[in-house]
Amino acid sequence: MEYKLRKAEPRDVSDILRLVKELAKYEEMEDQVTLTEKDLLEDGFGDTPFYHCFVAEIQGENSSEDPKVVGFVMYYFTYDPWVGKQLYLEEFYVMGEYRGLGIGSDFLRHLSDLAMKTRCTGMMFVVAENNELSVQYYKRRGAEDLSQEEGWRLFRFDKSSLVKMGTPTEE
Ligand code: ACO
Repeated sequence: MEYKLRKAEPRDVSDILRLVKELAKYEEMEDQVTLTEKDLLEDGFGDTPFYHCFVAEIQGENSSEDPKVVGFVMYYFTYDPWVGKQLYLEEFYVMGEYRGLGIGSDFLRHLSDLAMKTRCTGMMFVVAENNELSVQYYKRRGAEDLSQEEGWRLFRFDKSSLVKMGTPTEE
Protein backbone atom coordinates (compact mmCIF):
# COMPACT_ATOMS: atom_id res chain seq x y z
CA MET A 1 0.00 0.00 0.00
CA GLU A 2 1.51 3.34 -1.00
CA TYR A 3 1.49 6.26 1.38
CA LYS A 4 2.86 9.75 1.42
CA LEU A 5 4.04 11.91 4.33
CA ARG A 6 3.49 15.64 4.11
CA LYS A 7 3.44 18.70 6.32
CA ALA A 8 -0.02 19.29 7.79
CA GLU A 9 -2.06 22.16 6.37
CA PRO A 10 -4.99 24.08 7.88
CA ARG A 11 -7.43 21.83 5.96
CA ASP A 12 -6.11 18.85 8.00
CA VAL A 13 -7.35 19.99 11.42
CA SER A 14 -10.47 17.79 11.39
CA ASP A 15 -8.38 14.71 10.54
CA ILE A 16 -5.80 15.66 13.19
CA LEU A 17 -8.53 15.98 15.83
CA ARG A 18 -10.06 12.67 14.72
CA LEU A 19 -6.67 10.95 15.15
CA VAL A 20 -5.97 12.73 18.48
CA LYS A 21 -9.28 11.29 19.75
CA GLU A 22 -8.46 7.81 18.40
CA LEU A 23 -5.12 7.84 20.22
CA ALA A 24 -6.80 9.09 23.43
CA LYS A 25 -9.32 6.25 23.10
CA TYR A 26 -6.47 3.77 22.57
CA GLU A 27 -4.98 5.11 25.82
CA GLU A 28 -8.43 4.88 27.50
CA MET A 29 -8.52 8.64 28.15
CA GLU A 30 -10.84 9.81 25.37
CA ASP A 31 -13.03 11.83 27.75
CA GLN A 32 -10.07 14.12 28.50
CA VAL A 33 -9.91 15.54 24.97
CA THR A 34 -11.55 18.99 25.04
CA LEU A 35 -9.62 20.55 22.15
CA THR A 36 -11.56 21.80 19.11
CA GLU A 37 -10.72 22.20 15.42
CA LYS A 38 -10.71 25.96 16.01
CA ASP A 39 -8.00 25.57 18.70
CA LEU A 40 -5.91 23.43 16.38
CA LEU A 41 -6.28 25.94 13.58
CA GLU A 42 -5.35 28.95 15.70
CA ASP A 43 -2.56 27.22 17.63
CA GLY A 44 -0.80 25.48 14.73
CA PHE A 45 -1.27 27.79 11.78
CA GLY A 46 -1.08 31.34 13.16
CA ASP A 47 1.95 33.67 13.28
CA THR A 48 3.49 31.72 16.19
CA PRO A 49 2.74 28.01 15.76
CA PHE A 50 2.63 26.20 19.11
CA TYR A 51 2.92 22.82 17.41
CA HIS A 52 3.88 21.27 14.09
CA CYS A 53 2.42 18.19 12.43
CA PHE A 54 3.15 15.78 9.66
CA VAL A 55 0.40 13.55 8.32
CA ALA A 56 0.48 10.28 6.39
CA GLU A 57 -2.04 9.84 3.62
CA ILE A 58 -3.08 6.96 1.43
CA GLN A 59 -4.66 7.32 -1.99
CA GLY A 60 -7.75 5.11 -2.34
CA GLU A 61 -8.15 2.78 -5.33
CA ASN A 62 -10.24 5.37 -7.08
CA SER A 63 -7.92 8.27 -7.99
CA SER A 64 -10.84 10.71 -8.05
CA GLU A 65 -11.27 10.20 -4.27
CA ASP A 66 -9.43 12.45 -1.83
CA PRO A 67 -6.48 10.69 -0.16
CA LYS A 68 -7.22 9.43 3.38
CA VAL A 69 -5.21 10.75 6.34
CA VAL A 70 -4.23 7.60 8.30
CA GLY A 71 -1.59 8.82 10.74
CA PHE A 72 0.10 11.87 12.19
CA VAL A 73 2.96 13.04 14.29
CA MET A 74 2.81 16.24 16.37
CA TYR A 75 5.97 17.87 17.70
CA TYR A 76 7.55 21.14 18.79
CA PHE A 77 10.90 22.49 19.88
CA THR A 78 11.92 22.85 23.50
CA TYR A 79 15.11 23.96 25.23
CA ASP A 80 17.14 22.13 27.82
CA PRO A 81 19.52 24.46 29.71
CA TRP A 82 22.07 21.64 30.13
CA VAL A 83 22.31 20.55 26.50
CA GLY A 84 20.35 23.02 24.35
CA LYS A 85 17.72 22.50 21.66
CA GLN A 86 15.47 19.45 21.82
CA LEU A 87 12.59 18.12 19.79
CA TYR A 88 9.52 17.14 21.77
CA LEU A 89 7.44 14.34 20.28
CA GLU A 90 3.96 15.08 21.55
CA GLU A 91 1.81 12.58 19.66
CA PHE A 92 2.44 9.74 17.28
CA TYR A 93 -0.37 7.63 15.85
CA VAL A 94 -1.14 5.39 12.89
CA MET A 95 -4.64 3.90 12.43
CA GLY A 96 -4.81 0.21 13.34
CA GLU A 97 -5.32 -1.16 9.82
CA TYR A 98 -2.30 0.78 8.48
CA ARG A 99 0.23 -0.21 11.15
CA GLY A 100 3.28 -2.27 10.30
CA LEU A 101 3.72 -0.64 6.84
CA GLY A 102 6.67 1.49 7.94
CA ILE A 103 4.70 4.74 8.30
CA GLY A 104 5.79 5.15 11.94
CA SER A 105 9.44 4.50 11.07
CA ASP A 106 9.21 7.07 8.26
CA PHE A 107 7.78 9.66 10.67
CA LEU A 108 10.67 8.97 13.05
CA ARG A 109 13.17 9.20 10.18
CA HIS A 110 11.73 12.56 9.25
CA LEU A 111 11.95 13.80 12.87
CA SER A 112 15.51 12.48 13.25
CA ASP A 113 16.58 14.33 10.07
CA LEU A 114 14.85 17.48 11.31
CA ALA A 115 16.57 17.17 14.71
CA MET A 116 19.97 16.86 13.04
CA LYS A 117 19.28 19.76 10.65
CA THR A 118 18.25 22.05 13.52
CA ARG A 119 21.10 20.80 15.76
CA CYS A 120 18.85 19.37 18.46
CA THR A 121 20.57 17.13 20.98
CA GLY A 122 17.67 14.74 21.52
CA MET A 123 13.96 14.07 21.29
CA MET A 124 11.87 13.77 24.45
CA PHE A 125 8.47 12.14 24.82
CA VAL A 126 6.14 10.63 27.39
CA VAL A 127 4.52 7.21 27.05
CA ALA A 128 1.72 5.89 29.25
CA GLU A 129 3.12 3.18 31.50
CA ASN A 130 0.49 0.66 30.34
CA ASN A 131 1.27 1.25 26.63
CA GLU A 132 3.78 -1.58 26.65
CA LEU A 133 3.69 -2.08 22.83
CA SER A 134 4.79 1.49 22.33
CA VAL A 135 7.39 1.35 25.10
CA GLN A 136 8.96 -1.65 23.33
CA TYR A 137 8.64 0.08 19.92
CA TYR A 138 10.69 3.05 21.20
CA LYS A 139 13.17 0.89 23.12
CA ARG A 140 13.90 -1.20 20.00
CA ARG A 141 14.94 2.08 18.38
CA GLY A 142 17.27 2.99 21.24
CA ALA A 143 15.09 5.18 23.50
CA GLU A 144 16.12 5.40 27.16
CA ASP A 145 13.51 5.23 29.93
CA LEU A 146 14.45 8.28 32.01
CA SER A 147 11.80 7.67 34.71
CA GLN A 148 13.49 4.38 35.43
CA GLU A 149 17.13 5.40 34.84
CA GLU A 150 17.13 8.94 36.27
CA GLY A 151 14.02 8.97 38.49
CA TRP A 152 12.22 11.99 36.97
CA ARG A 153 8.53 12.44 37.81
CA LEU A 154 6.02 14.14 35.56
CA PHE A 155 4.14 17.09 37.13
CA ARG A 156 1.48 19.57 36.04
CA PHE A 157 -0.16 22.66 37.49
CA ASP A 158 -3.74 22.61 36.22
CA LYS A 159 -5.61 25.79 35.32
CA SER A 160 -7.14 26.26 38.80
CA SER A 161 -3.69 26.05 40.43
CA LEU A 162 -2.37 28.63 37.96
CA VAL A 163 -5.29 30.96 38.69
CA LYS A 164 -4.61 30.57 42.44
CA MET A 165 -0.88 31.33 42.06
CA GLY A 166 -1.35 34.12 39.55
CA THR A 167 -2.11 37.79 40.14
CA PRO A 168 -5.66 38.10 41.49
CA THR A 169 -8.00 39.59 38.90
CA GLU A 170 -10.32 42.42 39.92
CA GLU A 171 -13.99 41.41 40.15
N1 ACO B 1 0.21 -3.49 14.17
C1 ACO B 1 1.17 -3.01 14.95
N2 ACO B 1 2.48 -3.31 14.78
C2 ACO B 1 2.83 -4.09 13.76
C3 ACO B 1 1.87 -4.62 12.90
C4 ACO B 1 0.51 -4.29 13.13
N3 ACO B 1 -0.46 -4.73 12.36
N4 ACO B 1 2.51 -5.33 11.97
C5 ACO B 1 3.81 -5.28 12.25
N5 ACO B 1 4.02 -4.56 13.32
C6 ACO B 1 5.32 -4.32 13.95
C7 ACO B 1 6.35 -4.11 12.88
O1 ACO B 1 7.04 -5.32 12.71
C8 ACO B 1 7.24 -3.05 13.48
O2 ACO B 1 8.16 -3.62 14.38
P1 ACO B 1 9.65 -3.02 14.59
O3 ACO B 1 9.56 -2.11 15.77
O4 ACO B 1 10.48 -4.20 14.84
O5 ACO B 1 10.00 -2.25 13.33
C9 ACO B 1 6.27 -2.21 14.24
O6 ACO B 1 5.28 -3.10 14.69
C10 ACO B 1 5.61 -1.19 13.36
O7 ACO B 1 6.57 -0.33 12.77
P2 ACO B 1 6.14 0.80 11.75
O8 ACO B 1 5.36 0.23 10.61
O9 ACO B 1 7.35 1.58 11.46
O10 ACO B 1 5.22 1.74 12.64
P3 ACO B 1 3.64 1.98 12.54
O11 ACO B 1 3.32 2.67 11.25
O12 ACO B 1 2.91 0.73 12.84
O13 ACO B 1 3.43 3.06 13.72
C11 ACO B 1 2.96 3.43 16.02
C12 ACO B 1 3.95 2.86 15.01
C13 ACO B 1 2.71 4.91 15.71
C14 ACO B 1 3.56 3.31 17.42
C15 ACO B 1 1.64 2.64 15.89
O14 ACO B 1 1.88 1.31 16.27
C16 ACO B 1 0.51 3.18 16.74
O15 ACO B 1 -0.20 4.11 16.33
N6 ACO B 1 0.32 2.60 17.91
C17 ACO B 1 -0.84 2.92 18.76
C18 ACO B 1 -0.76 4.32 19.32
C19 ACO B 1 0.48 4.57 20.14
O16 ACO B 1 0.78 3.82 21.04
N7 ACO B 1 1.18 5.67 19.82
C20 ACO B 1 2.35 6.11 20.55
C21 ACO B 1 1.94 6.82 21.81
S1 ACO B 1 3.34 7.53 22.63
C22 ACO B 1 3.48 9.10 22.00
O17 ACO B 1 2.63 9.54 21.27
C23 ACO B 1 4.68 9.93 22.32
